[in-house]
Amino acid sequence: MSFYALYPHLIKPCIFVLDPETAHRVTIKLGHLLSKPPLTALFSQKVAARPVEVMGLKFSNPLGLAAGMDKNGDAIDYLGALGFGHLELGTVTPRAQDGNPQPRMFRVKPARGLINRMGFNNKGVDYLVRNLLARRFSGIVGVSIGKNETTPLENALDDYLICLSKVYAHCDYVAVNVSCPNTPGLTALQEAEPMEHLISGIKDERDKLAASTRRYVPLVVKISPDLTAQQLQTLCEICLHHQIDGISCTNTTTHRAIIDGMPHAGEWGGLSGEPLREQSTAVLAAVKAQVGDKIPLIGIGGIDGPIAAREKIVAGAQLLQLYSAFVYQGPQIIQDIVEYL
Ligand SMILES: Cc1cc2nc3c(=O)[nH]c(=O)nc-3n(C[C@H](O)[C@H](O)[C@H](O)COP(=O)(O)O)c2cc1C
Repeated sequence: MSFYALYPHLIKPCIFVLDPETAHRVTIKLGHLLSKPPLTALFSQKVAARPVEVMGLKFSNPLGLAAGMDKNGDAIDYLGALGFGHLELGTVTPRAQDGNPQPRMFRVKPARGLINRMGFNNKGVDYLVRNLLARRFSGIVGVSIGKNETTPLENALDDYLICLSKVYAHCDYVAVNVSCPNTPGLTALQEAEPMEHLISGIKDERDKLAASTRRYVPLVVKISPDLTAQQLQTLCEICLHHQIDGISCTNTTTHRAIIDGMPHAGEWGGLSGEPLREQSTAVLAAVKAQVGDKIPLIGIGGIDGPIAAREKIVAGAQLLQLYSAFVYQGPQIIQDIVEYL
């Protein structure tokens, strides 16, 4: 029996005594500690080999850690040693920022969901780059980039370009986060005109960086599950037109109907975990219908076991990511899912 099989019985009860944000901080601190060489091996986890090649990158398996868990890259080596096929770090912004006032993370326990309104709290892109440079994890690492809250929406592109150029040499792909519901106005970047401006600007800069460094780093766009059919269509057209390398479906939702009456249902922010599963899979399927095999898709939202993982693959995902199920089930979930992929 693996050490992590004890998570639900031994570790989770201790972690869940703490408020969610303290629990997260402790987990990342522990992950940082366990990223020291002798300890990393001791607490590593073996998972089945399920190699896949997507966006020209070779992944040891299709399951990755979603953005938001390790925003600053403090625990890369430990999280990598748990068997994820890739890690998405961030979202980072050019300058460090505190994010929204606390409390800003809530457990919706009966639904195994989370609500968060962190608001891109992070230590800034330079701090993350230092951690990327120091990593020993040799698997695929993506970096999610965003804009500072104080940067006006019309100047958002500047922030994305600063982050892109700083992380470019140190990661395997870059995810453009335009779908976080907790940074005022951010999701408006998914509208046709701002999206076209943003994506064409980022793509041009990437092409310049690829030419000057002779290294091609794929661009992924992460979208919201709350878009209308028309918005989704426009967004897919823009991604197709600019030959974006991947689309991540999806970020968290602001919808609440499915958890109506449950603890914290009234908190504003993005809902993740099992209550998001069906909605994000529907968006994934809708995007697949638009882009076909032209753009690889990353399925995210409510993946809590092998069946939910397979649902995403059936709906069109080539890669998968999870966050909330890691909180509720611990590292063992990686083994359980990858085994059956
Ligand atoms: C506390 C928390 C913080 C998050 N922060 C980010 C973030 O910074 N950037 C991002 O793209 N997504 C972020 N997400 C969204 C996740 O990456 C993921 O898209 C979402 O949680 C759905 O997956 P899940 O149901 O497996 O949790 C965050 C999610 C949570 C719960």
